Amino acid sequence: MLLAYVYWNTAGFLVRQTDEAVQAEITGLAEQYAQGGLPLLVHTVIQRSRDPGQGLYLVVDPAGQALAGNLDAKPNATPGPDGWMDFVYNRKGIDGIEVKAARARAFVLPEHFYLLVGRDVQERRIIESLITSALVWAIVLTVALGLVGGLFMSRNMLARVDAINRSSSGIMKGDLSQRLPIAGTGDELDQLARNVNAMLDQIEALMNGMRQVTDNVAHDLRSPLNRLRSRLEVTLLKDASPAEYRQALERTISEADSLLTTFNALLMIARAEAGSQRESMCTVDPSAVVADAAELYEPVAEESGLRLTVSTKEGLLVRGNRELLSQAVANLLDNAIKHGKPQSDGMKAGETTDGAAAPVIAVSVGSDAEGRVLISVADQGAGIPEQERGRVLERFVRLETSRNTPGSGLGLSLVAAVARLHGGRISLDDNHPGLKVTIVLPSVAG
Ligand SMILES: Nc1ncnc2c1ncn2[C@@H]1O[C@H](COP(=O)(O)OP(=O)(O)O)[C@@H](O)[C@H]1O
Ligand SMILES: [Mg+2]
Repeated sequence: MLLAYVYWNTAGFLVRQTDEAVQAEITGLAEQYAQGGLPLLVHTVIQRSRDPGQGLYLVVDPAGQALAGNLDAKPNATPGPDGWMDFVYNRKGIDGIEVKAARARAFVLPEHFYLLVGRDVQERRIIESLITSALVWAIVLTVALGLVGGLFMSRNMLARVDAINRSSSGIMKGDLSQRLPIAGTGDELDQLARNVNAMLDQIEALMNGMRQVTDNVAHDLRSPLNRLRSRLEVTLLKDASPAEYRQALERTISEADSLLTTFNALLMIARAEAGSQRESMCTVDPSAVVADAAELYEPVAEESGLRLTVSTKEGLLVRGNRELLSQAVANLLDNAIKHGKPQSDGMKAGETTDGAAAPVIAVSVGSDAEGRVLISVADQGAGIPEQERGRVLERFVRLETSRNTPGSGLGLSLVAAVARLHGGRISLDDNHPGLKVTIVLPSVAG
């Protein structure tokens, strides 16, 4: 279409230009004729024929004799409906007679005189045919290049799509380590492949996390179960008194209880990490949660010779799951009581019951400058060395110093998971001496 436009614009312009020039000549001659009649017209034609340029003229008398002009005879052509006629004529040039194309209009004057005014269009014809052949070549080249380029691109693209298909079916068959090929061109296909690869990385990381959890569970639950089973077996092998049987059963029950606790903790962590509770969250007063938990642990703390102080702040609200938040605070209190006893003074559980001298576990609810809610539990025990603070948040991690205290190493993992679920985080700091664990939660806006 573009080429057609170009053609009509250039060739059409040439035609218009010739026609306008002839028309101007006709107008000029008509003026001469009106002024001086046939003699002046013939005179003018003779004059103009002397230096004709591209102009063609002819005046013929009623007898058919040429009176003036640079054409030998009337052209052998009939005018078209618009009055123009196209014909060829012989022109005497430097090297003999040439056949040339012309375009002219003819008029019959009064008394059957004949006037022809026209123009040589040979040059125009040549230009026209040059334009035409240039355009034809342009079309041929465009089509050819388009076809070759299209073929090349589609083959290239298809090859890449093929490669992507092959890798994805490999991945679907279970090889999660495969990645989609990246051509390095940075185009849309590459971007797509990159995104899919990033997605696969994420999936692989999640799968590895899952595998690790399953391994942990298998490892950490299998040995207590094995222990439990072999104890029962040993008890059955020997003759024992009813009292001994009873004792064995009681130990079994308490071990089953601790297994159940571990199971529950794992389930809770998994649930918190899956984020499925987000829909069931409601507005919770952290002070109430902390106060309830502190009340529950107060007697336990006292029994261990520790004093619990609680400071809460009214009017704070968080959006969350009350059950999980309570469990998190309970875990922190449990840790503070279990691991947070000062060791230096050689105090033993239950020895000190006079509150004033007892080491303190300080539980507090507050807010920081940015309006976040801070729930912290600080003890005066040995604390956790700085380099271990990240590690203890992992599942089943217990420090060497805690080997003799009961526990599964899941407490802090749950606290961290709960904090994450609520859009917050957990931080472990030095309490000089002791450990201060803070749960930072976003508060309910406005
Ligand atoms: N308040 C604390 N003071 C000192 N060490 C602590 C304290 N809380 C936790 N820890 C250390 O972090 C480890 C992980 O804690 P946690 O995940 O609650 O497991 P658990 O209490 O079952 O041992 C504990 O085994 C203990 O070594
Ligand atoms: Mg614990």
